[in-house]
Amino acid sequence: MAITVRILVGTTTGNTQYVAEEAHFNLQQAGAQGEILQMDELDAKVFEPAAIYLVCMSTYGYGDVPANAKKLYESLVKDRPNLTGIRYGLVSLGDSSHAQTYCFGGRRFDQILTKLGARRVGEVLEHDASAGLMPEEFAAAWIGPWFALVRAEHAVAA
Ligand SMILES: Cc1cc2nc3c(=O)[nH]c(=O)nc-3n(C[C@H](O)[C@H](O)[C@H](O)COP(=O)(O)O)c2cc1C
Repeated sequence: MAITVRILVGTTTGNTQYVAEEAHFNLQQAGAQGEILQMDELDAKVFEPAAIYLVCMSTYGYGDVPANAKKLYESLVKDRPNLTGIRYGLVSLGDSSHAQTYCFGGRRFDQILTKLGARRVGEVLEHDASAGLMPEEFAAAWIGPWFALVRAEHAVAA
């Protein structure tokens, strides 16, 4: 049975959307099912154990999650749903010129998801806007190995 990967997007100026589209394309090519969902349309009910989540988000303000991710982030912090059994990967966009708060948006999400019982698959991919690499190209090289980890877990569980 195909693995379902739901890609959740937190963005302000669209870089993260490009990453999500690249990831979605690569995942479909690798045989996954799934969809891209903008975070502003979501609450914690989006998390279902049958799916895998790829959280893609940037950082704004002074280390904040982007505006379209605020409602979901705050609902997780306030309502504290039990996310045991949820698995996710994380792509975090930031800019190292914001040295004190580099990629904090993604880090905030990583921390709250872990605290609520979800488990991250693989290492976080952090994209630095000052590094000169297009975020979607940078993410494309990461997505294959990440999905291989997801697949390996499914094979063990089956
Ligand atoms: C007003 C503003 C504030 C930002 N604050 C941070 C920050 O605190 N930490 C960080 O790592 N990046 C910060 N960034 C960089 C963005 O996260 C980065 O450019 C990212 O690629 C934007 O992705 P997006 O277009 O999907 O929103 C900031 C960018 C802007 C324009």
